[in-house]
Amino acid sequence: MRAVFYLTLLCSTIVLNACRQTAEQQSPTNTSVARREQHRPQFHFSPPTQWMNDPNGMFYFEGEYHLFYQYYPDSNVWGPMHWGHAVSTDLAHWQDLPIALYPDSLGYIFSGSAVVDQHNTSGLGTQEQPPIVAIFTYHYAEGERAGRNDFQYQGIAYSTDKGRTWTKYAGNPVIPNTQSIRDFRDPKVLWHEASQQWVMVFAAYDHLKFWGSKNLLEWRHLSDFGKEWGSHAGVWECPDLFPMQVEGSGETQWALLSSINPGGPNGGSGTQYFIGQFDGAQFELDAAFAENLKKEKAVWLDYGRDNYAGVTWSGLPDAQRRLFLGWMSNWDYAQVVPTTAWRSAMTLPRDLRLLATPNGHRIASWPAPELLQLRTATHPLKSVLVDGRSELALPAGVGAAQTELELEWELPENGSGEFGIELSNSLGETYRIGYNIENQQFYSDRRNAGKKDFSEKFAPGLHLAPRIGNDKVLRMRLYLDAASVEMFADNGATALTDIFFPNEDFQRITLYAEKCSVKLAGGNIYPLRRIWDEGTIRK
Ligand code: FRU
Repeated sequence: MRAVFYLTLLCSTIVLNACRQTAEQQSPTNTSVARREQHRPQFHFSPPTQWMNDPNGMFYFEGEYHLFYQYYPDSNVWGPMHWGHAVSTDLAHWQDLPIALYPDSLGYIFSGSAVVDQHNTSGLGTQEQPPIVAIFTYHYAEGERAGRNDFQYQGIAYSTDKGRTWTKYAGNPVIPNTQSIRDFRDPKVLWHEASQQWVMVFAAYDHLKFWGSKNLLEWRHLSDFGKEWGSHAGVWECPDLFPMQVEGSGETQWALLSSINPGGPNGGSGTQYFIGQFDGAQFELDAAFAENLKKEKAVWLDYGRDNYAGVTWSGLPDAQRRLFLGWMSNWDYAQVVPTTAWRSAMTLPRDLRLLATPNGHRIASWPAPELLQLRTATHPLKSVLVDGRSELALPAGVGAAQTELELEWELPENGSGEFGIELSNSLGETYRIGYNIENQQFYSDRRNAGKKDFSEKFAPGLHLAPRIGNDKVLRMRLYLDAASVEMFADNGATALTDIFFPNEDFQRITLYAEKCSVKLAGGNIYPLRRIWDEGTIRK
C-alpha cells in the first residue's frame, strides 16, 4: 500500500610560539563565521574553522556551560593540540571564545577535564573567587620523536575570571610519567564526597588508573581497573567516572566510561562502559554486569560509528544530572572527511540515565530537553500501515536537513522483515535507518548516502545496534542535521550516531517496510532552527 499523508608536530618550541601568535590573532567569534558551508551542521557545535576532535574540560559555572575541545587552529587535520573554547547559556546556542590553552615547552595540550574548585582547595584562587581548574595531558612530541616512552604526563591550568583566561600551574606536571607508559592520558576529575578528596581517572593503554588528591596539586596512585575486562581491540582513551541513580529505584551505581580506538562496535572508535561501585579507592564491577560482560565482551554507549571521546559536564546546578557530549567522528576517517574550512562536529548534549534491564544495568541517552527550543513547528504524523514505501508529504520549505522526527511503530507479533525511514535527494542518494524484526537489531546504512570515496573505512557495510527495550511499540526519536543522524530508540535505551555527506541536502523522507507491513501508530516532525543564524550568545 502506498500512503501519502500530509503534515504540516610538528612544532619545535620556536614553531610552537609561531603557532600561538597565529592562533591568537585569529581568536574566532561566531559573528565572523557564518558556518554555512556544504555539510556544515546547523544545530550542532562545530569549530569556527580548522580541525577539532574530543570535547574537553566541560563545566558549568555562573549560568554558562563551557565546552573546550581539541583544536588545531592552523590546519584542517590533527596537529599540535590547543583547547578551543565555546560557551552556551542554553545548551542549544554556542558562542565562540578565544583559544583557552596553547601548547608550551612541556608539550601539546591533549584531552582532559575541568572542575570548579569551590572551596579553593588548590589555593589557586580565593574563597570569594574560587578557581576553575583544568586538568589535561601534556604530550611532548619531541620526546616521542626522540624515542622516549614518558612523553605524556598530567598538567593543570586555572582561571579566576569565569574561564576567560587561563594560567598554567608553575609546578607542572602534577603527575609525571615515572613508569614510562606510552599511552598515559585524558584525566577526568571529580570530587568524591565520601572520601573527601578529588579523584582522577585516566587511561593507560589497556586500563584505567585512579589517583586521589586533597588539593588538585599533589596526587597519589589509588588503583587500576580494566586489564581483564571489556574490549581490548584498541587503546583506551578519555574515561569518565560518575555515580548514577538506577531509574525507578533508590539504588546508586557508578558508571565508568572508556573510549577505545580501534575496536568500536561497528569499527574504529567507540565508547564502552562498566557499571559497579567506586569506594574512593577502587572500582569494582557489579556482579550481574560482570556476568553479562563475560558473554558480551563489551557494552557500548552508542552503536553508531560517530560518537567518540564523550564525557560529562561537571558542576551542574542539578548534581544528579549526567550531561554528556561526544565528538561526532571516528579516527578511521576523521582527517579525510570531505570538508575543508572546518573538520567535524560534536554530538548533541545528552542526558544519561541508568536502566535496570534483564542483562544488568544499561545506560540510556536522551537529547537534553533544552534542545526543544530548536523546534520551529510541530507537524503530527497520521497513523498509517506501511507496506512497501510511503513518502511523507512535507510542508513547503521543510526537508530532511534540519529536522527532528518522532516515530511510533507497532511491531508485528513474531514477524520478520525490516522497516524504517529513508532520506533521499534529487541525485538519487539515500540514507536508511531501520529495524530488522527477526534479528531485533537496528541498522544504519550510509553506503549510498553521498560522498564516501575519501576512505575505504567509511561505508563498507551496515552499522548494527541491538534493541535493549522490549515494548510492543518501538519508539524512535531522530535528529537529522546536514550531515548526521542521531537515533534514540526506546527512550534512549539504544543510541546510534552516524555522519554522512550527501552531495545535496536530503529533501525527502520515506517510510518503508520490506517483507512485512508495520503500522506507524503516530509521530511528529519538527523542523529545527539553525543556531548560527542568530549571531551571538542567547541571554
Ligand atoms: C582521543 C585522543 C585522546 C588524546 C587526544 C589527542 O581522540 O586520542 O586520547 O588526548 O585525542 O588529540
